[in-house]
Order: sequence, then structure tokens, then C-alpha cells
Amino acid sequence: AELDLIKIEEDKSLPQAKKIKLRSVQDNLQTRVVVQGWVHRFRSQKGLAFITLRDGSGFLQAVLTGDLAKARITQELTLESTVLIKGVINKLPEGKSAPGGVELVADYYEVIGLAPSGEEAFTNKVQENADPSLLLDQRHLTLRGETLSAVFKVRAALMSSIRKFFADEGLTEVTPPCMVQTQVEGGSTLFKLDYYGQEAFLTQSSQLYLETCLPALGDVYCVQESFRAEKSHTRRHLSEFTHIESELAFITFDDLLNHLERLYTYVIKQVVEDPVAGPLIKQLNPNFVVPEMPFLRMQYIHALDWLNEHGIPNEDGEAFKFGDDIAEAAERKMTDIIGKPILLTRFPVEIKAFYMKKCADDPRVTESVDVLMPNVGEITGGSMRIDNHDELVAAIKKEGLDLKDYYWLADQSKYGSSPHGGYGLGTERILAWLCDRFTVRDCSLYPRFTGRCKP
Ligand code: 4AD
Repeated sequence: AELDLIKIEEDKSLPQAKKIKLRSVQDNLQTRVVVQGWVHRFRSQKGLAFITLRDGSGFLQAVLTGDLAKARITQELTLESTVLIKGVINKLPEGKSAPGGVELVADYYEVIGLAPSGEEAFTNKVQENADPSLLLDQRHLTLRGETLSAVFKVRAALMSSIRKFFADEGLTEVTPPCMVQTQVEGGSTLFKLDYYGQEAFLTQSSQLYLETCLPALGDVYCVQESFRAEKSHTRRHLSEFTHIESELAFITFDDLLNHLERLYTYVIKQVVEDPVAGPLIKQLNPNFVVPEMPFLRMQYIHALDWLNEHGIPNEDGEAFKFGDDIAEAAERKMTDIIGKPILLTRFPVEIKAFYMKKCADDPRVTESVDVLMPNVGEITGGSMRIDNHDELVAAIKKEGLDLKDYYWLADQSKYGSSPHGGYGLGTERILAWLCDRFTVRDCSLYPRFTGRCKP
């Protein structure tokens, strides 16, 4: 009853409060501000209450004294409630610590939305060591945590840095369709859908569409979701991932490799130097080293020798022989031992996609490349494309595809062919490497994989 007598009222004689986001607290020292956000942490003791406020753009500690601390709303405050606080931002005295080394001395506050307490309390929903599948059921809440939110801040910086790189290199962004009636990376991983009574698929890769843009727009790229009904469910496979793909005209295979090297060194340096993402990467992956040019270039056949010399077997537990796929386990072991980026090149025709160009000096292998990074392995796949019309038509048929579904791709080599190539970057895999996450599931906002399509 005594608590109910305490009324929190704003002192109207104080200077008008300036509305700010928490990312700009440092620009507003000694200023009376109004901030709004979620209660990230909360403690109350001896007539003092401390709220660590979070608004997605930053964190700020607010200190409540006097009636503000004693009021019923403060006694009943819960984590994840939303509040509005007014007060002055001060530098913290020596020896005290809080985010940004500052503190908001509150003179007024109100609760906007009170989050549940007891059984339904936030901390009961999101328990740190809970089963991963339970945490995924609560993904909308776990996203609020410091780790996941940091990954998605880094992701945003990565996307913007990649777009900047593409702009600098003169590429034009396009948006190819998600609903398609062709395959790119093999029939076994297609998600089928009923398209007004016709069979259609969710796209596996926008590559073929990008190829058709070259004569119209020049070098192009896209950021598009790709979908794979993957049978192998490993820590680096998702059913839906953000595929950043680019296609470049009139290049050689060597140009393609150089371009990839430039992309990774430029983009990663930018992200690590970004004022928001940089410190978060430090926090998530303190030992991260920015890759430097030149990358190690290794041909597939030399990788087989390397694997055999190091006693790493193929999927049947035997020594590697020409034509074997270097599957995830072996590939990752090799990358981890070598410990730096690798451009693995010239894969055999049989284990690669139908559209890949054969090497002029050895028709058993293709002008193909995988970019491998420690801890994840393959984060990018690319190649030069067949640009000879007859050869392309033959490759389409050999793959068992119906030319009448692929006439538009074949036309590229008919109406002015060009040597060209491109690649696809797996966004979540790049992030797993950059942020040192065990699985790509931690790098996708709402990850999709076998048995999981919600929330
Ligand atoms: O190697 P992939 O299958 O290549 C293509 O799709 C080409 N058509 C791309 C192109 O040349 N335009 O896929 C490219 C990259 C892989 O290196 C990997 O990083 C990522 O996409 N990726 C996946 N990421 C998460 N889950 C999956 N199931 C993935 N499949 C591929």
C-alpha cells in the first residue's frame, strides 16, 4: 500500500529530453535524453535499481534512485519488459563499468509493456543449456540474446560490404525468380511445388538466370534464397540458404580465381574494420585472422596426394583415387591442417555440374573452384561455363534434362557466345567461419533443415 502511494511524475521544469537510439549515447553525454527499449538486465538493491537497456542498436545502463527505485513498477519489473526512460547520460567514474563506460541517471521512467514473471518468465523460456531444438522453438526469443544478435549484426555488415565490393567492380544487382522449372545442381535436392497444376521447383541456384543477364546488363550478381532438399544433414547444410551469386563475362579461369581472392580479402577486411561488426567479431571469434593474398591454389589431383600422404581416407575408408568426391569430413580435415584459405581447382567432370567448362589441357577435369576456409571447408563454389553451343546442348542432354526446358540457357551460346564464369557464396557458411559458429544454423535467422520449418 505504501508503494502505491509513490507516484512517478516527470518534473516539467527539466530541459526537454532529446529522443535518441542507444547507438548514439556517446554523442549525447551530459544531455537529457529519452530512450526506449527492452530490459536486458535488471538488479535492484538498497534503494538503487540498475536497468541495462537494449534497443537493438546498443546497450545502456540506467540507474534509478529515490522514488523511481522504490516504486511498485520497479519492484515488479521483469526482464524483456519495454520501458521509456528519461535522464542525463554521464561518464562513469573510474572503477565502475557499464556498456560504453556511461550511465543514464534517470529522472523519470515508465513501463510500456510488462513481460511475464513466474512460469512464463523470459529466463524460463530461454535457458542457455537447453536442448537446441527447444531453443529453436523459441528462436523469436533467443534472437534477443547477445550471441545471436551479434551474428546478425555481423551478417548485415557482411552483406553491405559484399554489395559495396560488387559496386566497385561494376556489377549490377538483379533479382532472379525463386519459382522455377529447371534444375542447376542435380535433381536429387529439388523441392517440388504445385504451380497451378504444373510441376515447378524452388530454385537451387540463380546461376542460369544470371548467365542470361550478361548480354543485357554486363556483369551481374544477386542475393537470393536457394533451396536444397539435402539428404545429408550436417553442420553446414541448410534447406534454405542465402545464396550470393555472381556471373562475369569475357573472363578467363585465372581472372575468376583472382576475382574471388580480391572479393574475400576486401570484404572481410571491411567487415572486421566496421565500427559495429568489428568489435562483435572480436567478441565471437577473438583469434580470427583476415585472409591475405595470394590464397593457396591447389588442384584436385594434388589434394588427393595430400590427403593420401596424410592418411585421410575417402568415404569408403580407402585411399583417394581420381574421380572420388572429397566429402565434407576429409575436406575439413585438410583445410583445418593447412589452416588458411585454399582455392581448390580442376575437379573431375563426373563429380561436377553439367554446365562446367572442361580444361583445354585435360578434358577429364573442369575449370572449377571451391573456396575452402578453416573450420567450415567449402564456402564458395564456382566455375567457367560451357560456351560452345553444341557442347552445351550435349551436356544438357547427357544430364538427362529436356532441351525444351533449357532452350533459353542454350540460346546464350547461340546469340553471341562469350567465355564467362561465376560462383555462389554460401552466406551462412561465410558467417560460421567469420564468427566461429559450430553450425550454419546459428547464422540463419530462422534456420530451415529436415524437420524444421517453423517458427
Ligand atoms: O557449390 P554450389 O552448389 O554451387 C552452385 O549452386 C553454383 N550454381 C553457384 C554458381 O556458380 N553461381 O553452392 C554454392 C555455395 C556453396 O559453396 C556453399 O557455400 C553454399 O552455396 N551452399 C549451401 N549452404 C548451406 N546449405 C546448403 N545446403 C548449401 N548448398 C550450397
